[in-house]
Amino acid sequence: MHPATRRWSLRFSALAILSVAACSAPAEESTENGADDLSLSNLVKLARGTIDRTVVDPANPWAQKKLAIGEENRLPNEAAEFATFAKLVNRIQANSQAELKAKAPFRAFHAKPHACVRGTATLDNRALPASARVGLFATNASYPTWARFSGGVSTPQPDKKLDIHGLALKFVGVPGARILTQPGDDTATTQDFLFTDQSVAPASDARHMMAFAEASLGVADNNSILGKFENLAAVGAFLTRDENVRIVDFLVNRALPKTRSTGSLLGDTFYSGAPMALGLEAGDVNTAKAKGAFKLIAKTGVLRNGVCSAMPTSPNTKDDAFLHNDLVKRFGAETVCIDLSIQIQQDPNREVLEDVSVEWRNAAISVGRITFESRKLGEVAADAEQATCDAFSFFPWHTIADHRPLGNAMRARRVAMPSSAGYRDATTPEPTATAPTGGR
Ligand code: HEM
Repeated sequence: MHPATRRWSLRFSALAILSVAACSAPAEESTENGADDLSLSNLVKLARGTIDRTVVDPANPWAQKKLAIGEENRLPNEAAEFATFAKLVNRIQANSQAELKAKAPFRAFHAKPHACVRGTATLDNRALPASARVGLFATNASYPTWARFSGGVSTPQPDKKLDIHGLALKFVGVPGARILTQPGDDTATTQDFLFTDQSVAPASDARHMMAFAEASLGVADNNSILGKFENLAAVGAFLTRDENVRIVDFLVNRALPKTRSTGSLLGDTFYSGAPMALGLEAGDVNTAKAKGAFKLIAKTGVLRNGVCSAMPTSPNTKDDAFLHNDLVKRFGAETVCIDLSIQIQQDPNREVLEDVSVEWRNAAISVGRITFESRKLGEVAADAEQATCDAFSFFPWHTIADHRPLGNAMRARRVAMPSSAGYRDATTPEPTATAPTGGR
């Protein structure tokens, strides 16, 4: 998720507008631009929290075609559309920087780091079927691994405010032919995976995620109170469209309860949300059909008697940085761990590649664990290891070809994320196994 949004607090004011607008709007009426207002049946589903996450979103143009296992659906005009996202993320960054009068730009999303540390991943493929022992899962090796815990929105904010939480992993020293997107990729050995603590993304496709980001941005862009109100109403109007019902469901029925209940990131489950390949058929590695697909799940905790045990904690809402401070306490006292498992695509109509609002419900299979030795964590900006890690670009396209990111959300990220990283001058080189601390 983020993804895709700016000021969730403003968004919630927008939800107030949404409820008024939705109640006064005649059901199924068409707006001037042709979009349907929130239908009565969708309103009822929203209120009950019963939006069906097993079927594709009718508003997602990438997901309306039946596909085979590992098959993607590229729309003819998608490259031009994704190029506009690269510009939008820079507008978001300029805005956040101006708003906080910050010296340097933030990440366009996931701006606030809660901690950024190095540990060791030990992979174990024994539970996997032979067909899934591909790429990273082909051998049972250990890798230095960096992990960045973050808040999801584009501006650092108090931890009690509506948000999703992010986790980014960077495995170092992974062998294999690579996807080349940026200078230095030919010599890199990193394999990145990005997660949020929601099993679905806020919207079903990149278009709706970025449209939400843009609608929200209008509020922050405007300096006058009246202007802000007008734009807030525009966000409300955006959310009351039937095609955005999954975004509203995400905010109200998923993100809000999760924000209110999460006091520690070490009692949480993180989901890659978007899928990756399990090997590619012959051809150009950028476009060849994937032989299989998977999503990765990361469960965080502390190691006790060989078990990675979740440490659920209530939020300490009096502390603006309770998530960082909880990590400082836990890392200072115990070995922190992350258990990794994968869901393998079995039925392309259930484990959908082109709609990230559909929940994959098939069983997850264990593939290993990351451990982080106990250590004293300082503030991210003042701690050398954490500052190095925070300055990396975590990017799903830092990858071996066997795990090429799949689906429109991933293809859009290939364009949008480097634009954000470039704008904030994230030039820390990819770390190597022999120089694992990276650094400039
Ligand atoms: C399921 C889908 C998604 C997930 C799980 C996800 C997760 C994340 C995470 C965890 C980060 C923080 C990485 C870090 O710690 O450095 C991040 C950053 C970011 N994401 Fe997403 N994201 C998703 C979809 C998208 C989409 C569709 C876009 C845009 C088209 C996007 C654009 C970005 C950008 C621009 C950044 C900042 C990159 C930087 O400055 O290095 N994301 N995302």
